[in-house]
Amino acid sequence: MTHSPLPDPPGADLGTVRDWVREAVQLSRPIAVLTGAGMSAESGVPTFRDALTGLWAHFRPEELATETAFRARPQQVWDWYASRRAAVAGVEPNAGHRALATFQAREPGRLTLITQNVDGLHQAAGSPGVLALHGNLAEDRWLDSPRACCDASVAAGTLTDACPPACPACGNLRRPAVVWFGEFLPEQALRDAETAARTCALMLVVGTSGAVYPAAGLAFTAHQAGARVVVVNPEPSELDPVADVVLRGTAATLLPALLSP
Ligand code: OAD
Repeated sequence: MTHSPLPDPPGADLGTVRDWVREAVQLSRPIAVLTGAGMSAESGVPTFRDALTGLWAHFRPEELATETAFRARPQQVWDWYASRRAAVAGVEPNAGHRALATFQAREPGRLTLITQNVDGLHQAAGSPGVLALHGNLAEDRWLDSPRACCDASVAAGTLTDACPPACPACGNLRRPAVVWFGEFLPEQALRDAETAARTCALMLVVGTSGAVYPAAGLAFTAHQAGARVVVVNPEPSELDPVADVVLRGTAATLLPALLSP
């Protein structure tokens, strides 16, 4: 009589990934971490798609997060980002953000942190050198190339107090410094992220649906280059097929368990 193999006991995969983290440290091999909106869920920041509720429920992301939408309806898009900013203001990094920052402080230079999040919580937790692929929600920039009058109006604090604020001389609009659909990612950050994906021994993919490229492609790059890929997500994601191990759980519970000494 043959027996089918027993299933792994609960926590076996967690132990395996903990061993991989330790091995990378002991052998001085690079680790990359790619995070998405689920990373901040336990800080109380709604994920991008969850944020399209209430007043905004009848919009698709592509109807708000594009340059075309902003040019057509600047106030509406600005107001949506203002509601995102309000949702992020006052929230704190969670135990997952802190576990990453603590690991980076303990093992300087070992871990490259790549995020799709624009909430600034990795930076607030003290993580150095965060590669913020989708920009920063807290910052604005000019919609069109600034002229001399634009710089002068910022320096003098004379932007209009409309929503969005504008240069009083030429009408150039301020826009959120985030990457919209159809826009290029910040070149240097993307290059550094691709290098990290190509050269890491281990990549943790935390709290992302894996639906938006080129960020999601970094997991494939790491896998193809021979790295171990681990997905941390309480729900199925589009990157599960590329993972060596999928850990079904949340960022704030699993990252401390994986990264503590
Ligand atoms: P999504 O909102 O698409 O996905 C969030 C993921 O987090 C889902 O897979 C959830 O299952 C998972 N999740 C939820 N709670 C979690 C928790 N506590 N711990 C771990 N995982 C959890 O967010 P992103 O994948 O980040 O782009 O979306 C990618 C990009 O799409 C965003 O950066 C944004 C958006 O359009 C731009 O703004 C350019």
